[in-house]
Amino acid sequence: MPALINPSILSADFVNLQRDLAAIAAADFVHVDVMDNHFVPNLTLGLPIVHRIAQVSPVPLDVHLMIDDADRWAPEYAAAGAASVTFHAEATQAPVRLARELRANGVRAGIALRPASSVEPVLDLLDEFDMVLVMTVEPGFGGQSFIEGMLPKIRRTRQAIEESGASTWLQVDGGVARDTIGRIAQAGANVFVAGSAVYGAADIGGEINALRLLADGSVA
Ligand code: DX5
Ligand code: ZN
Repeated sequence: MPALINPSILSADFVNLQRDLAAIAAADFVHVDVMDNHFVPNLTLGLPIVHRIAQVSPVPLDVHLMIDDADRWAPEYAAAGAASVTFHAEATQAPVRLARELRANGVRAGIALRPASSVEPVLDLLDEFDMVLVMTVEPGFGGQSFIEGMLPKIRRTRQAIEESGASTWLQVDGGVARDTIGRIAQAGANVFVAGSAVYGAADIGGEINALRLLADGSVA
């Protein structure tokens, strides 16, 4: 499967969001970071804006919820038009029940892990999730540097996916750029979120294609 490149609009210009969405038509999904200033110390956007983004985006929505009480809120993001909804393991009471509810609503269900959270409890449940998101920065802000120590966690997750035969995608978010994406792809990720790398580029579409080529060229 070719690498998927999901630009994060956290690094877009929120006053020119429709323009900045149109600029990523070459991407696979648009990554939408929802932050509540409780689960993470930052505040972004919520349901009404996600609903509008879904109406104008040239690509489907990959919503990353960095919010408390995901059990209550995640299904609302499915209803708002997301194609994929990822909630944090640390912010849900019943991740399997929530993933099943999301899938029953016709969206892909992802589970995310902070850098210090262990992936092992998820590895026996891979069939229940369409995606595992390994955070490679502390969630909350764009433009941070990639945590190299996460590469073994990505490798272990890829190995478990292969052994289980599950079709779960493995996403990496945080510090993905030209100088890191090859190592991350080699470790086994197949979905790449990039905020500052994409929106900081002079040629946004060209950067998406460059990142995809670098990832595809690095797959073992
Ligand atoms: C951080 C967000 C990321 C962020 C990544 O909490 O989840 O999606 O936009 O930004 P970069 O690619 O700049 O590290
Ligand atoms: Zn994110």
